[in-house]
Amino acid sequence: MPILTDSETLFHQRYPDFASTRALDELRASDYARLDRLGHVYLDYTGGGLYAESQIQQHVALLTGGVFGNPHSSNPTSQAMTELVEHTRRYILEYFHAAPDEYVAIFTQNASGALKLVGESYPFGPGGQYLLTFDNHNSVNGIREFARAKGAEVIYTPVLPPDMRLDETRLADHLDTPTGNVPRLFAYPAQSNFSGVQHPLDWIARAQAKGWEVLLDAAAFAPTNRLDLSVHHPDFVSLSFYKIFGYPTGMGCLLARKTALAKLHRPWFAGGTISYVSVSNQQHTLHEGAEAFEDGTLNYLAIPAIEIGLKHIARLGLEQIHTRVACLTGALLDDLTALYHTTGQALARIYGPVDTHQRGGTVTLNFYDQDGHFIDHQLVEQRANAAGISLRTGSFCNPGGGETALGITGEELRSCFSPADDRLTLTEFRRVIDQQSTGSVRISVGLVTTFADIYRFSQFARSFLDKRADEI
Ligand SMILES: Cc1ncc(COP(=O)(O)O)c(C=O)c1O
Repeated sequence: MPILTDSETLFHQRYPDFASTRALDELRASDYARLDRLGHVYLDYTGGGLYAESQIQQHVALLTGGVFGNPHSSNPTSQAMTELVEHTRRYILEYFHAAPDEYVAIFTQNASGALKLVGESYPFGPGGQYLLTFDNHNSVNGIREFARAKGAEVIYTPVLPPDMRLDETRLADHLDTPTGNVPRLFAYPAQSNFSGVQHPLDWIARAQAKGWEVLLDAAAFAPTNRLDLSVHHPDFVSLSFYKIFGYPTGMGCLLARKTALAKLHRPWFAGGTISYVSVSNQQHTLHEGAEAFEDGTLNYLAIPAIEIGLKHIARLGLEQIHTRVACLTGALLDDLTALYHTTGQALARIYGPVDTHQRGGTVTLNFYDQDGHFIDHQLVEQRANAAGISLRTGSFCNPGGGETALGITGEELRSCFSPADDRLTLTEFRRVIDQQSTGSVRISVGLVTTFADIYRFSQFARSFLDKRADEI
């Protein structure tokens, strides 16, 4: 392994734009100093972003400098809180360039909460369709249960290995599926949390032109890319704020076009969602807009921290963050694709694009030994843990990504869904039958990843070179 300074020099030559992100190195040394102080190499940004210490300080100052009550009341402390909640709502729209007469921001617990709101309320019905790509997160896959229960057809468009990009011909065919006047919903991730692939946002307008409503899952995309809702106009967007700026957890958002929101039918009402309700005659009238979708008391003290977090990102500039992540992802891919055992066997098999074109900072792979046997992802994780490297292994709540990348067949999976007595786990099945992996290793970079972090991971990867899986 070349020493760090040599590698870094080569990296700067290959990725000259990285120099323009120096401010983020300084930020890492100050506002995120705890990473180096505690010796962490954090490479799980797709799992969760990291907060700056200044975000926490600002939030504490706000909470200790005021008295805030439940915004459902109308006393002074409640009004103070309502003002902060509504201010944050307006700022979220501004951040995503969403026109306030076109979009509303609905607070949810997380991206999954936003997705469930759409799923349970969407007017699916016989003759309608729920179309989705194969590489969705489970919280998007789960909407198919609402669609099925209401008699709509569920259609999956594949992604194609090894790059894991959309099968565009199939998608165009699926969007042409004939329909009556029954609503139909198309859902896809702006960035896959499995492969890092960024699917073209043009599909939004193309699908809408064919009568689909579009649900864009931006949970993995928004942390390092600009989502501009004055350019693209998806009907629904799901987000988790902790993925963008780390703190607070437990807050997400559904951005919804008002026209699309008006077509949703909530299956119930709750405290805070109704303008009128009667027990005697069992009737209720829902609020209009966002409030009709926010059940019970909001996590109101956390909400101002969203504006603090978004302003932190805006100050750094998404373009700077994007550039940094692209350069570091490029370095990671260059390094991993150049590693071979002396037997000639490649060390890593990457599931997704191996260059930085239309991809984000999520790299998923398996390591293989000198004889071409996979190295169990759980073992890789144990070793990474011991080396102070935080990464993620498994299938990342993205079963379609895993099934496509690892070539897991429907038949193999059927054996895992058989009655409990003769059920074989997928791991047992694959080990016994064909020595293939059932999961993978995910490395993801973010706004304060440094070149040194990538270097530490490269050293870690090299520790698997010229070894047999059974001796590891
Ligand atoms: C693309 C994508 N969608 C949705 C989610 C769900 O987010 P949450 O667990 O915060 O609800 C995730 C989380 O990893 C994700 O990466």
